[in-house]
Amino acid sequence: MNPAQSAPDHPCPPWLAQRLRAAGGSVSFARYMDWALHDPDHGAYGSGRLQVGPAGDFATSPSLGSDFAALLAPQLAQWLLQLDGVTPSSCGMESSSGRLSLIEAGPGEGDLAADLAVALVAGWPELAARLELVLVEPNAGMAARQRQRLSGCPLPVRWCSFAELAAAPAQGVVLAHEVLDALPVERVIWDGALWRRQLVVLDEAAAAGPQLRLEAGAPLQPQADAALWNQVQQRGLIAAERLPAGWTTELHTAVAPWLAGAGAALTRGVLLVVDYALENRRYNLETRQGGTLIAYRHQQASGDLLREPGHWDLTAHLCLETLEADALASAWRPLGQRLQGEALLALGLAQRLYGLQQSRPEELAAALASREALLRLVDPAGLGAFHWIAFARPGDHPVQASLFLSDPPAQGGCG
Ligand SMILES: C[S@@+](CC[C@H](N)C(=O)[O-])C[C@H]1O[C@@H](n2cnc3c(N)ncnc32)[C@H](O)[C@@H]1O
Repeated sequence: MNPAQSAPDHPCPPWLAQRLRAAGGSVSFARYMDWALHDPDHGAYGSGRLQVGPAGDFATSPSLGSDFAALLAPQLAQWLLQLDGVTPSSCGMESSSGRLSLIEAGPGEGDLAADLAVALVAGWPELAARLELVLVEPNAGMAARQRQRLSGCPLPVRWCSFAELAAAPAQGVVLAHEVLDALPVERVIWDGALWRRQLVVLDEAAAAGPQLRLEAGAPLQPQADAALWNQVQQRGLIAAERLPAGWTTELHTAVAPWLAGAGAALTRGVLLVVDYALENRRYNLETRQGGTLIAYRHQQASGDLLREPGHWDLTAHLCLETLEADALASAWRPLGQRLQGEALLALGLAQRLYGLQQSRPEELAAALASREALLRLVDPAGLGAFHWIAFARPGDHPVQASLFLSDPPAQGGCG
């Protein structure tokens, strides 16, 4: 063997080697991703090792400052007020004086929840008086930091799972900001004739110690691998002859159960997903040879998915059509979708930017930081290209309007 080929590219940490041995030496990519992100002791989120923010591992819209929450707050207030105005039906729904819940899944550092609480209390005190924050965070390491961040929160706040909420469902809004991209995905490879599941394999033969490598597993079977096969079909990939051998993509098998869980948590309300996503035709481009999965750490992106497991974020774009089909299957009714840039303009970003011009000299530094953050939020080559996708629970509470889908307010006269 060529010594260069046997170089230890992907040392497998002992905790993961132990898991892989117990699993027979290999696991699906989704299982690997789940361990690498969510293992309570060693996972990047499970241990709380990953830090969200410009000074951490990667930045997100809420981590750039409170402007994102301030712009989102009117949209949430509009939905909550519409829900509140509903006359209870004969099926025993809560009355309009009942508690409303703002449920955030995957709150990261807790920035969005904290800033939204402040914005809602300031702008809609009567509504806020009946509002609670519910944070859905499976990773204890992240939840510990959220507790600190929210220690002075002006709204009542609790942490619980969708399953716990389903026992006493809430009415309100579920927010999923950059969380569905962190759900484990499966990877499948087109070998030129058949689709195969990609495996993560423990290689114990290397002199340098256990190594990780990716390997194509057995061909997918329509019945035995129904969940994967259905998604291959849904993505229009059954007849894949046009694709080069080795073409790999990811399938979002964890999204459907997540949507069902979120649906069971609400008697009535709205779900807003904000995330990076591609239309199917762009996902399936011949040139997108390795899918969209990417690793992040210390503001650095890497295509090496086996690098230092438990130290890097692993994340994949959503597929818009798969998300919508999964949502419909869980009885979510689509309300509409928009790119973040357009959504934030509809919610008054231009007016906010204009208002910064009126800042007093002593506010200049803060105004400049705010200006930079606002421009980043709508950058069409960055956060502005994220998708805002809203759904409602069906039933007797039609949400009539959504500000983020409306025309931007007219310019002028604002400050
Ligand atoms: C990419 S971070 C996003 C953080 C935050 N929403 C933001 O945009 O700044 C993903 C967050 O989702 C959490 N998470 C991962 N899987 C989850 C799941 N199944 N349900 C809820 N949260 C999850 C992670 O622990 C982390 O807090």
